[in-house]
Amino acid sequence: MSIERFRAMVLREEEGKTRAAVEQLGRDALPAEDTLVKVEYSTVNFKDALAVTGRGKIVRSWPLVPGIDLAGEVVESSNPALRPGMKVVLTGWSVGEKYWGGYSQYQRVKSEWLVPLPDGLSTRQAMMVGTAGFTAMLCVNALEEAGVTPERGTVLVTGAAGGVGSVATAILHKLGYTVTALTGNPAKHDYVKKLGAADFADGPQWAEAARPLEGQRWAAAIDTVGSKVLARVLAEMHYGGVVAACGLAGGADLPTTVMPFILRNVSLLGMDSVMQPTANRIGIWSRVVDDLPLEKLEGITARTVSLDEVAQACADMLDGKLQGRVLVDVNAGA
Ligand SMILES: NC(=O)c1ccc[n+]([C@@H]2O[C@H](COP(=O)([O-])OP(=O)(O)OC[C@H]3O[C@@H](n4cnc5c(N)ncnc54)[C@H](OP(=O)(O)O)[C@@H]3O)[C@@H](O)[C@H]2O)c1
Repeated sequence: MSIERFRAMVLREEEGKTRAAVEQLGRDALPAEDTLVKVEYSTVNFKDALAVTGRGKIVRSWPLVPGIDLAGEVVESSNPALRPGMKVVLTGWSVGEKYWGGYSQYQRVKSEWLVPLPDGLSTRQAMMVGTAGFTAMLCVNALEEAGVTPERGTVLVTGAAGGVGSVATAILHKLGYTVTALTGNPAKHDYVKKLGAADFADGPQWAEAARPLEGQRWAAAIDTVGSKVLARVLAEMHYGGVVAACGLAGGADLPTTVMPFILRNVSLLGMDSVMQPTANRIGIWSRVVDDLPLEKLEGITARTVSLDEVAQACADMLDGKLQGRVLVDVNAGA
């Protein structure tokens, strides 16, 4: 592999369908951005799975190298703050949607999208965390900024066996919170327990519409599912409870009422990782090093795949066949 001849996954639109293939590219094919990165690792997030399979409208510019995250080493940059050899991490900023992303051995990106890798974190670990883990940290941070503490009571994590939910459960446990997990699949209970969940909230009620207010169960919640699940979470919050909502794995609608907000003082915090300002990103990555039990990352990482295996991992994620995170070693099998 050299900068003149390297491998990347390329998505092309053919007759309204998405076609994913690993291709040989050269330096001249890369976008005209100010920083060249030698990519070491990327990862598979829910959004990547939708983009690569074409099952969701994620891609906004064709052809596209997908991969919303990357970590690697700066090769050259016109920004003097980025010296060759510096280790960097990139998540969000519409990379892998509108701009070329991490499923490539080299990528050219805007320097302002890059965060220097914090001390204590390797590029491999950074991609085991990825957007999913970054978002989990963002959610925990937001709950704490809203006044949530372990003494206030149990925190519910929905989609707990997924990427965001797994990392959120591990972080909350390390910080001393009691976590109740919701997963749609009892076969994943052992895995979620090992991450620190005390018990499970599963039951048939989650498939049904909640009443405007239900019995009060949760001091705080991190929701990755949306739709009916988030509506029930809101109806079950304690007085003054706080919900950080980041996902739509179960649907983008929210069939709720104002009752939890106006009768129980419940707060609903919206969480976006894509356009977070750089100063917040640096703070969140630094918290990842301090508050995510890094020894649990290996267990959270279900699979390490090569570029050739990404498409299958994406399909498996959407078919519910995965738990935790998928690491992409862009140099494997090359
Ligand atoms: N706001 C942001 O910036 C941001 C950042 C990252 C991710 N997200 C969103 O967060 C969500 C989770 O992402 P992820 O990377 O963790 O995905 P993931 O690894 O696929 O996990 C999603 C989890 O949601 C649960 N789930 C899936 N379909 C469901 C359904 N129909 N009803 C109930 N539960 C369902 C499953 O959990 P169980 O197996 O436990 O049942 C699954 O493991 C996605 O919607 C993603 O787009 C948002």
